[in-house]
Amino acid sequence: MAEWGDERTVAVTLVLATGERRYQVPVTGGTSVLAVLDHIQRHLDPDLAYLASCRRGFCDVCVVRVNGKACRSCLQLVEGDELRIEPSRADRAIRDLAIRL
Ligand code: FES
Repeated sequence: MAEWGDERTVAVTLVLATGERRYQVPVTGGTSVLAVLDHIQRHLDPDLAYLASCRRGFCDVCVVRVNGKACRSCLQLVEGDELRIEPSRADRAIRDLAIRL
């Protein structure tokens, strides 16, 4: 397990209705999945759509599937060297990772 502050790069694959998109994202032991999505949108893919509001685990709008498991992206810390991120409900996807609530 990565220690807090150790820098590394993770391979991120977004599994979207329009196809897969791949990125390399720098993280530390304390990086959340939502921070990974923020990094992608700010630095790599400004068109990426996803939902977030409270960023503290209260509202549930940020739920996505990470490596097959549903989680709140704001609370889920990055584990391992590869992330496959999908909408929490593909049948409700509006665009990219954003779903109809
Ligand atoms: S942004 Fe509200 S629970 Fe994650």
